[in-house]
Amino acid sequence: MPGMTTQTWDPTLYDGKHGFVAALGAGVLDLLAAQPRERVLDLGCGTGDHVAQLRAAGVEAIGVDASAEMIERAREKFPDLPFGVADARELPYADEFDAVLSNATLHWVRDAAAAARSIARALRPGGRFVAELGGARNIATIAAAAEALRDELGVSPSASPWYFPTIAEYARVLEDAGFEVSHAWLFDRPTPLEGDDGLATWMRMFGQHLLVDVPDTEAFLDQLSDRLRTQLHHDGTWWADYRRLRIRATLTPS
Ligand code: BEZ
Repeated sequence: MPGMTTQTWDPTLYDGKHGFVAALGAGVLDLLAAQPRERVLDLGCGTGDHVAQLRAAGVEAIGVDASAEMIERAREKFPDLPFGVADARELPYADEFDAVLSNATLHWVRDAAAAARSIARALRPGGRFVAELGGARNIATIAAAAEALRDELGVSPSASPWYFPTIAEYARVLEDAGFEVSHAWLFDRPTPLEGDDGLATWMRMFGQHLLVDVPDTEAFLDQLSDRLRTQLHHDGTWWADYRRLRIRATLTPS
């Protein structure tokens, strides 16, 4: 269907040029403060690095991801660790975990209410939910420039797969699912993109919907890079205008 795309994931590109996803997620791991023998679900585990770190600290971590390709790679990297394919809106768990951790995943789930209910079901009463996702106005500069270029080329607006809530919006979603939100931060985190063609590489991996129906993708990416260079390219590096929403919530005992 014109204007629609299904996001695809390339685990090699993810680990190679986008290794920052797991590396910059360290803050969310600190906020989780998982204890040895706690049962922790890493929702959107990608290729498994956080599960491996948690297991090394004695935490009983399990990783799930919606992408079969990512899970296949996680199993190759860490053959002894438990991984599975699962949809955040329909997690196959009830009353099982002391904590659910999620880094750079939930901005891909537009039905945030369904995901919050599913996470609540997976947790034990009193269990905690610690997450980081793109927040309001995340990558607004890149998205606006790409949409403007599409418009100039006569291509219709893209159908965004992204969900970038404000603190208030997301707190409401979590409270409706039975959580008490104790901490929330929304902050700029300009993120370096590797390589001279860093912006184009990022667009091919993460901005696939912005390329749908574009007649000449390479020319589009060249033009986009030219236009954004002044704003987003400094000292030889591309910087994506990421804004993070970091949150800590507890499942209210019923
Ligand atoms: C992020 O904020 O991590 C993100 C958002 C959309 C696409 C890719 C990454």
